[in-house]
Amino acid sequence: MSCRRQPAPGQGGISGFTGEMWPLRQSRDMPHPSFRPERLFVQKGLTVVAQQFASDNYAGICPEVWDVMQQANEGSVPAYGDDEWTNRASDSFRTLFGTRCEVFFAFNGTAANSLALAALCQSYNSVICSSFAHVETDECGAPEFFSNGSKLLVARTDRAKLYPEDIRALATCRSDIHYPKPKVVTITQPTETGEVYSLEEIRAIADTCRELGLRLHMDGARFANACAALGCSPAEMTWQAGVDVLCFGGTKNGMAVGEAILFFDPAQAEGFDYRCKQAGQLASKMRFISAPWIGLLETGAWLRNGRHGNTCASRLAERVEALPGLALMFPTQANAVFLKAPEHVLDGLRKRGWRFYTFIGGGARFMFAWDADHERVAQLAADIEALAA
Ligand SMILES: Cc1ncc(COP(=O)(O)O)c(C=O)c1O
Repeated sequence: MSCRRQPAPGQGGISGFTGEMWPLRQSRDMPHPSFRPERLFVQKGLTVVAQQFASDNYAGICPEVWDVMQQANEGSVPAYGDDEWTNRASDSFRTLFGTRCEVFFAFNGTAANSLALAALCQSYNSVICSSFAHVETDECGAPEFFSNGSKLLVARTDRAKLYPEDIRALATCRSDIHYPKPKVVTITQPTETGEVYSLEEIRAIADTCRELGLRLHMDGARFANACAALGCSPAEMTWQAGVDVLCFGGTKNGMAVGEAILFFDPAQAEGFDYRCKQAGQLASKMRFISAPWIGLLETGAWLRNGRHGNTCASRLAERVEALPGLALMFPTQANAVFLKAPEHVLDGLRKRGWRFYTFIGGGARFMFAWDADHERVAQLAADIEALAA
């Protein structure tokens, strides 16, 4: 059964609308005061909420995942991961990555990243990251919290990618006892600005890490989009390039919730099950965050979904990048478009009902998930064109 037409709880259509369904995260990103919520709804068989591209977390569960969740819902199954669904999902990862990695499941990316970094560090160690890194900007200090204080050392550059010279500078500038000893480098693939590290770039970072005695962690909240963009295998992008630990995002790839943590060196995973439990990340009904991966990995949906999001992003980018007064803030290489536009254009988009975040550099961020509707992407492009004219 497909889940595509199921309205989310509390989102039954115009009559069910209460203003509370919109997240109140950042006041500057709230709709324009003159905006009428009715404009957000379109008729499509059932009445559903018109699609928005403010975040790839707005998407629902993809059909392949829904299908497996329904199967996993049959009968009574052992708890806490001691079940066949969880074994099979772990094996699916090993098959996809072509290696016997250790696999763990967490509820969200903050937990996955923080616990993975904590596993690689002592409390007196430090983690080198970009100033754009989600672990630095959007995890509320969780990496430091879960590692009992391992400090993030932030590269002060104006770009989201880390380069070997940034790592070397931070790792070698001090070696005295008063400085938190660098132990890990974390990179986000694709970056928070939608850029993709090439395999050469990852290998160069990994070589620098090896030389300096550092481990390499990859925040792959949108890992599938990166694989789709580069057309390479998950193995090439990770352990074959020198990545030690990967956090593979399921939530943005078509699941309801869930991220997987893959340790390519099993020795580094020692005690990680206890770490997950202590952090409240051991799901008692584990099958509901492990089985969805079977739906993504065994059907190939993970890659199709990633590719689809990327295609939608490039379609929007192609239509708007050359418009007068507008510019792409970053190259569109995965499923994100960052648009620098005059205030009247951004305001006009808000008035027309479009939602977007402006938290990176003041431009509008649009994100495309597995369910992005080409027609709706075209509507957004047309609105941007009309406002820029
Ligand atoms: C780069 C990156 N890492 C990790 C995450 C996961 O965050 P969360 O804890 O909200 O699942 C996100 C989500 O926006 C992200 O963009």
